Amino acid sequence: MLLALLLALLLAAFLAYFARSVLIRAPAASPESLVHASTSALSLDQQHLLRKRTQPNPAPQNDKPQTTSTKPVMQPPRTDIALPKDDPFTVEQLKQFDGTDPTKPIYVAIKATVFDVTRKADTYGKGKSYNLFAGKDASRALGMSSLKPEDAVSDFSSLSETDMKTLNDWYDFFSKRYDVVGRVIDLPSQGQSSL
Ligand code: HEM
Repeated sequence: MLLALLLALLLAAFLAYFARSVLIRAPAASPESLVHASTSALSLDQQHLLRKRTQPNPAPQNDKPQTTSTKPVMQPPRTDIALPKDDPFTVEQLKQFDGTDPTKPIYVAIKATVFDVTRKADTYGKGKSYNLFAGKDASRALGMSSLKPEDAVSDFSSLSETDMKTLNDWYDFFSKRYDVVGRVIDLPSQGQSSL
């Protein structure tokens, strides 16, 4: 009788433990919900992580912190954007602004528009996560959500409709956060056609 009672108690304890650890455990958050999270389901914050990726994580070569917060990690829009400048840049000139020389500004071009991202040197500077976008027009990679160096080119002519939307979302994102300092004047024709 005592043994049966003991066994019953043991069984109850096991069941309680099982229910606690397996059944009512909070669902594991996906990586997508941990980073770039935002209140809007399809914000660019999430999109660039939710969509197919050609490279797992942009962190290896740098010191980007891996966040586990559900707060958005992308910077909010700014209200102090300067009036756009229209200075001409050749592809060759643009290369000087890739973050290699710390005395020079850092520029990122999207659809031939050149943005000054210097204040985010910790993101676009030499050796940082998104340095592959610096000193060039890498529209194709932004549209594809790709961090592959070979995708970091200006030609976005063969992007799908969805990728075009992503590219245009990035363009809007940059427009609301970085000053336009000019435009690239000698990109291959496809890269400029839909401006
Ligand atoms: C698991 C994959 C990824 C993680 C964990 C991640 C994480 C992050 C984080 C934490 C930031 C904020 C950085 C900061 O403000 O300093 C950021 C920004 C950014 N991410 Fe990602 N990202 C991922 C994938 C990608 C991919 C595939 C792309 C390709 C287009 C991309 C493009 C960008 C860009 C352009 C920014 C900078 C936005 C700005 O100028 O403020 N990310 N990412």
